[in-house]
Amino acid sequence: MKFSSQVVIIGSGIAALQAAKHLGVQVNVIVITKSVIRDSNSYYAQGGIAAVLSTDDTYDSHMQDTFEAGEYHHSLSNVQQLITEGANAVKELLQEGFPADYRSDGTLSLCLEGAHSRHRIVHSGGDATGKMMIEHFIQSLPDNVRIIEREMAFELIVSNGTCFGVKTKNADGVIHTYEAQHTILATGGAGALYPFTSNRKTLTGDGIALAYRAGVEVTDMEFVQFHPTLLFVNGETKGLVSEAVRGAGAVLVDENGRRLMRGVHPMEDLAPRHITAFEIYKALKKGRNVFLDVSMINDFQERFPTISALCLENGIDLKEGLIPVAPGSHFLMGGVKADSYGRTSIARLYAAGETACTGVHGANRLASNSLLEGIAFGKRMAIHILTYKKKSMNFQPAEQARPVQLPPLFEMDELKKRMMEDAGIIRTKQGLARMTDCLRIMEGANGDISGLSIEDMEKLFMHTTAYLIARAALERTETRGAHIRADFPESAPLWRKKWVTFEKGMLSV
Ligand code: SIN
Repeated sequence: MKFSSQVVIIGSGIAALQAAKHLGVQVNVIVITKSVIRDSNSYYAQGGIAAVLSTDDTYDSHMQDTFEAGEYHHSLSNVQQLITEGANAVKELLQEGFPADYRSDGTLSLCLEGAHSRHRIVHSGGDATGKMMIEHFIQSLPDNVRIIEREMAFELIVSNGTCFGVKTKNADGVIHTYEAQHTILATGGAGALYPFTSNRKTLTGDGIALAYRAGVEVTDMEFVQFHPTLLFVNGETKGLVSEAVRGAGAVLVDENGRRLMRGVHPMEDLAPRHITAFEIYKALKKGRNVFLDVSMINDFQERFPTISALCLENGIDLKEGLIPVAPGSHFLMGGVKADSYGRTSIARLYAAGETACTGVHGANRLASNSLLEGIAFGKRMAIHILTYKKKSMNFQPAEQARPVQLPPLFEMDELKKRMMEDAGIIRTKQGLARMTDCLRIMEGANGDISGLSIEDMEKLFMHTTAYLIARAALERTETRGAHIRADFPESAPLWRKKWVTFEKGMLSV
C-alpha cells in the first residue's frame, strides 16, 4: 500500500518526537518505528539533559567541556547552536510542565556527570529522565502526527539525488511505501553491534545503513563511545549504571578496594568516558574485578530507583555498597553527515539525533549532551523544514534494482564477538584489517532487498554498519577520544580536522 505525507520520520526517539511535535503543528507527519513508541534508547536514558540553566554556569564553560571530552574534533558553530539553542529548548520544556526534579527549596536539581565542570544535568524521576521525557512528548504530539509501529524501513526512495520517502516491511511480509516531501532518519545509533552494550537490541545502525546504501555521505564512524559502567553479572552486561552515580560521589574500586582512577586523570572518577572505560577494560583484561563503591550515597535507592531495581533483578545486594561494572558500547559519534538543520548530502533527506553526525560530539560525546542534541536539533530541523517547505514534487521512479544476492553473513553472536575483539575499546591494524576483510563483501551488497525477511534486512544493516566502523577505524592511524589504537597511541595533529567519510560506496579522508 502507498501512503503520503509532508514528512516521514524513521525512528521514534527524542530527536524524532521533538521534530514531529514542531512539524505536526503545520503539516502531516508519519513517524515509523520498527519497534513500539515506548521502546527506544531515549526512553531508557537515565542521566539527563545537560543545559546551562544555573547562574554560576556559562555557555563557554559547557562548550569547553564538550570540546575537551571530544578532543577538539568538532564543528565549532554546531556546538554553539547545541549549547545555546539546547538550553532554550530545555527551558521551553520546563515551561510546558516537563516534570524535572526540583530541590526542596524549589530550585532545579542539577547533577554532575563525567567531564562536566559544573552541576548542569537536568533529570526527572531520579534516574528515569528518558522515560519521563518520551511520555511528555507523546502527550504533546499534535493530531497531525501519525505513529506507525512494527514496520522496518528497508529502502530510501531516491531518484536524481533527491529523497521521496521510504519503503517498509512488517513481520507478515507486507510492504508499504511512504512518499513524503521530506524524509528524516532518526533511528539512533548502533550499540547492539557489540555484546556488551547499554543499548536496546533494536539499535542496529539501520538509518546509517539505509543512507550508505543510498549513496548518502556517512562520516566519523570510527568513533564509538563505550560507557564505563554497565552492570556486570556472570560475564554479561545487564544495563546502564548512570554516570550520575559517580556524579553523586561513587568511586571505582577493584576487589581489594584500590581506587582505579587515582593518578590516572585529574578528574579521577569523573574523567571523560573513554579514559574511565579504558582503565576499567584494562583491569578486567588482567583478571581483576571492578566495582562502583556506592556506600557513601545514603539515599541511593531514592535517588536512583531504576538502577536499584536493575541491581535487585540481577541479584546485587545494595547493602554491600558495591556494584560490579564493565564498559559497553553506548553511543556512536559518527553517522549520516548532516548540517545544523539536519540536511544530508541528498536533497529532502535529513538526519537527526544519534543517526546524524553534525560534529557536535567530536571524538567522544560529553555526558548528557545526547538528549540535548535531540531536542535542540530536532526543533531546529523542524523549523527549517517549515520555513523552506518544498513544493510537492512527483518522483520519477529510478530503474528497479536487481534483487540482492545476500552475501554470507555471520551469526549475530559471532558478529558481535568479533566487533568487541577487533573493533572494540582497543584497536589494532591487525584486528581492524581482519574485520574489514571479512565484511568487505558489504560493499557489493547493493540491490533490491524487498524479498528478504525483516530479520535478514536487520542482519544486513548490522553487517553494513559494522563494516563502516571497522573500515573507518582502520583508516584513522591515531588515537583520538573514543577511537583508541594500540599501535598509534597518540593523537596526531594532522588528523585533528580530518574526517573519514563514505559516499556512494567510496571512502575519502
Ligand atoms: C548516563 O546516565 O550515564 C548516560 C547519560 C549519557 O549517555 O549522556
